[in-house]
Amino acid sequence: MGFVVALDGPAGSGKGTITREVAKKMNLINIDTGAMYRCVTLLMIRQNIKLEDKEKIKEILDKIDIKFGIENGEQKVYLNGEDVSLLIRTKEVNEFVSPVSTLKIVRERLADMQREMSKAIDVIMEGRDIGTNVFPNANVKIYLDATPEERAKRRFKQNEEIGIQIPYEEILESVKNRDYIDSHREISPLKQAEDAIYIDSTNMSIDEVVEEIVNIIKKKR
Ligand code: DC
Repeated sequence: MGFVVALDGPAGSGKGTITREVAKKMNLINIDTGAMYRCVTLLMIRQNIKLEDKEKIKEILDKIDIKFGIENGEQKVYLNGEDVSLLIRTKEVNEFVSPVSTLKIVRERLADMQREMSKAIDVIMEGRDIGTNVFPNANVKIYLDATPEERAKRRFKQNEEIGIQIPYEEILESVKNRDYIDSHREISPLKQAEDAIYIDSTNMSIDEVVEEIVNIIKKKR
């Protein structure tokens, strides 16, 4: 195993942006595990596979190929060779991904892939269960948090910038709903690892959070 930074936290805590920045500064490969759960969800939607249909789910997991890449400075996600970077961010996927990620068969397969991906490289891996389940011995563990209201506000702003109009109240509702499912599921729920460093980013800028994490990594590497 290379050097591993595990970055966990709830939806909208800024993990994506922060992971990308820290990866650049510290020369780490950035692995977005949420995107992997989104890929499985997209395949299930496309093939109309229900949560109960374990046989079909196993079939897609046996054949699934997920790769990350960078094109013109942008992070890309390839699912079985197809660029699905945008397709995994739709409202439909947002709504179905939390239930899909409660499934044991999905979690085990993706956690294995995540461990495999990090065998020979230094990574910063973001998700919900990286410090607790995927890499309990990660070199650095961070739990990044912010209030649901602040996270909904950030998501609202991001949407505005890309021309998506969803009312703030609706976003807040969806953030709280995902928090609930993610933290109450039976297998590897979202929770802070005992030895993770807690960062509340509610009143911090992105640069401030990045700087804090970079300093933590520098001390350990
Ligand atoms: O980080 P995100 O919003 O793209 O994650 C999408 C969903 O995937 C999230 O609702 C919970 C699930 N997930 C998970 O269960 N475990 C992870 N390590 C990463 C994501």
